[in-house]
Amino acid sequence: MSPDTAAPIRTVKIAPSILSADFANLEAEIRDVLEGGADLLHLDVMDGHFVPNLTFGAPVVKSVRKVTDAVLDCHLMIDNPVKYIPDFLKAGADWISVQVEAPDDIAKAIQLIRDGGALAGIVLNPDTPLDRIRPHLDHVGLVLVMSVFPGFGGQSFMPEVLDKVRELKASGWPGEISIDGGIAEATAPQAIDAGVDVMVAGTAVFGRPDRAAAIRALRKGA
Ligand code: DX5
Ligand code: ZN
Repeated sequence: MSPDTAAPIRTVKIAPSILSADFANLEAEIRDVLEGGADLLHLDVMDGHFVPNLTFGAPVVKSVRKVTDAVLDCHLMIDNPVKYIPDFLKAGADWISVQVEAPDDIAKAIQLIRDGGALAGIVLNPDTPLDRIRPHLDHVGLVLVMSVFPGFGGQSFMPEVLDKVRELKASGWPGEISIDGGIAEATAPQAIDAGVDVMVAGTAVFGRPDRAAAIRALRKGA
């Protein structure tokens, strides 16, 4: 194939969500996915208020930091990010994303993340329009588009959110576009086609015994 007829090659980063890992063996689980080709680790922080589920906080991030140099992508599904961001920065988070719907000063949260030297991200739920995050776009390096309502792993992918990915990509916005929820072998090609840079996957990676094969299968659409 001559270069002008070759399909463009894009590398999509895979971010396994440790929410679906075996927490009693977290270090081994993390090594397994990183050796299997994961590009970063997605850490889902839930407070039981913003979402109807509880997971873990900064102490777990700190422990994970001790066993890996991988990029730690912390997704804060919490009502009060401003209060807790300093803890996540201290714990060693590299990327910190806040939900635009959280009842907090989101611009301040983003500024705190940036001042702490981490990459700031903004997250939007499936029913939140892109317009809602526009005021923040100049201040973040990551937009995380939820393709399920946050709170639980293992839900079904909502393809309609891909319109937001396409629109953001077409606008020429230069940051990372990530998608989170229901990403599996069957849905990944649509997300890649829409233009995502990062795909978060919990069940589709940790739910399979061969994590390297699972990660390869997700990337295949690229
Ligand atoms: C959902 C979390 C996701 C979740 C993804 O609230 O933000 O990161 O762990 O899990 P899967 O890939 O199983 O949909
Ligand atoms: Zn997440």
